[in-house]
Amino acid sequence: MKKLIIANWKMHPATLAEAVSLARASDQEGIAVAAPFPYLAAVAAILKCASVAAQDVSVTEVPVGPRTGEVSGAMLKSLGVQYVIVGHSERRAAGDSEKVVAAKLRASLVAGLTPILCVGEPWSVRRRGFAASRAFVGRQLTSALSRSSGRIRPLVAYEPVWAISTSKHERDETPEDAARMAQFINKQLVVLGRRTRTRVRRLPHILYGGSVNASNAAVFLSRPEFSGILVGGASLSPHSFRDIARVARTTS
Ligand code: PGA
Repeated sequence: MKKLIIANWKMHPATLAEAVSLARASDQEGIAVAAPFPYLAAVAAILKCASVAAQDVSVTEVPVGPRTGEVSGAMLKSLGVQYVIVGHSERRAAGDSEKVVAAKLRASLVAGLTPILCVGEPWSVRRRGFAASRAFVGRQLTSALSRSSGRIRPLVAYEPVWAISTSKHERDETPEDAARMAQFINKQLVVLGRRTRTRVRRLPHILYGGSVNASNAAVFLSRPEFSGILVGGASLSPHSFRDIARVARTTS
């Protein structure tokens, strides 16, 4: 099975010229590039093999309107965007509540985009144990998905906040624990699907994110629980990212 790599550039690089050159270096099958809004059109024009992703979408289900500063899912779709990251821990820290995350997920679905719903517990929860972490992630899933109905096909990215390279980075997640969490997420999705009469896509649909680089990509990608990875810091270095893509090709 082919695995998916999402390059989450976050608020990088500093100029359009750098974004163009990074996009050229990242253009391979099985990759989606999540570029900042101002670069999306240029990046979309460059990518021939990779898909385009957005890092956010506004809480609105209408395509256009008097909403200064907002970006609708329809606008992203018109640029060729396929995936939208919602609920990333950095956006949650910037103020996106559970309600906002759910609304962004719905806005993506209404526009025909595939949301990548990020879930993951902070260290203050994980230090209390795996059961506490599972309960935390379960609540995030319920609140994001129980407001959507119909046929929904989100990808879910499990990103323990404490394992993200630019967080306080208390430690690295083990592939075993990450896989246990992925199994739990799968079960939750089935339960939620029944409860909301929603047809949630079954396996494979879970990504792992948190300090993935060329040295550890294989251990996550080789786990059957994961259909891909979400890569932040390492996606900004063409050299490291090419190495990760090579690993993905050989472990898929
Ligand atoms: P990281 O970021 O790979 O730099 O840890 C991942 C993310 O935040 O999506």
